[in-house]
Amino acid sequence: MTISKKMQQYLTGGSLIRKLFEEGAAMTKDGSGKPVYDFSLGNPSLDPPVEFMHALRDYAASPPEHAHSYMANAGLPAAREAVASQLSTEHACSFSAANVLMTVGAAGAVNVALKALLDAGDEVVVSAPYFVEYGYYVENHGGRLVVVDSAPSFQLDVQAIVAAITDKTKIVLITNPNNPTGVMYTQESLNQLGDALAEASGRRGKPIYLLDDAPYRKLVYDVPRCTSSFDAYPYTLMATSHSKDLSLPGERIGFLALSPQIDDVDTLHAACAFSARILGFVNAPALMQYLTASLQKATIDLRRYRERRDRLYTALTAYGYQMPYPDGAFYLFPKVPNGTDFSFVDRLKRQRVLTVPGSGFGKPGYFRIAYCVSDVTIEGALKIFEEAAKQAN
Ligand SMILES: Cc1ncc(COP(=O)(O)O)c(C=O)c1O
Repeated sequence: MTISKKMQQYLTGGSLIRKLFEEGAAMTKDGSGKPVYDFSLGNPSLDPPVEFMHALRDYAASPPEHAHSYMANAGLPAAREAVASQLSTEHACSFSAANVLMTVGAAGAVNVALKALLDAGDEVVVSAPYFVEYGYYVENHGGRLVVVDSAPSFQLDVQAIVAAITDKTKIVLITNPNNPTGVMYTQESLNQLGDALAEASGRRGKPIYLLDDAPYRKLVYDVPRCTSSFDAYPYTLMATSHSKDLSLPGERIGFLALSPQIDDVDTLHAACAFSARILGFVNAPALMQYLTASLQKATIDLRRYRERRDRLYTALTAYGYQMPYPDGAFYLFPKVPNGTDFSFVDRLKRQRVLTVPGSGFGKPGYFRIAYCVSDVTIEGALKIFEEAAKQAN
């Protein structure tokens, strides 16, 4: 085998979850003609909003000169200005283009930030359940992922985070709203975290950064706007994208925003731009930067996801499933009624309903349902969820 030992380890690790995925994928092509209810992936089912199509048409009618050239690693000034101006309306601080770096999705933004900040052995604290890719990213940048549990409500357990802080802690990484729970952190819990990080940073004489991975920030259903990490803590970076709010995951467009309150923020911005170069991203896709610059206020039709959330949450809780209230994103994270998360997910899979075991997010005993799927899929699966709950009791 010529691949690296690390890659061998990654490819063989997590084999149970991969097996479930592979069997699920095979099911969709088994020729039985029976439907498969696939809730396993966070791939948006809605098309991009009509504003995106209009922007694309206008662009094609009169493209700017040299539109497809290399550019500054941080991205097009017009795109960065548009993002900064939108962020200034969402948070208490005032952003400029100098605080923004256009990136290859939220994943690119998180990686650029980690690359810019981490020295070998530095620790990154995350709260379980968490997006599984973080482990790979942090390790790739020489860091060490330190996992703490969230509070029983799936809000942040600030005391647990504080207890995990050592002299090597460089970053606390959160996802708000959360994947896989759909929970949005309250402003109060973000403020508590901010106060605790300010205290710990002061004590150590060096800052701990708060990296808020927020690709679902505009997918909140009960309030006009997601809670703000920038308002809670000065040393905040936010990674986000238009993968979910404009349904453009295949176009790989996002951005990293740095709080203007970070000391020497220009050096951090330069380090992030250099990181984009080293990681081979060079710059975010040019066409998408042109288009999304004019779409900072647009979103997919949020009502469609809200209806699906309400339908599933109401039905599943009536069947007896327990789960945190999903304020946002497009996930539900119920507790398995009995048995392990693997056995329960396997049981659903045999009924052709595909979900993901909580172990895949560092939280055994739960399973994730991604409801960015059609109404037909939801309606078809409800009976099976109901039966599975009955059998479990
Ligand atoms: C928490 C979280 N972060 C990052 C990403 C990656 O997003 P993007 O497609 O914008 O890179 C996802 C995608 O599902 C996610 O759920």
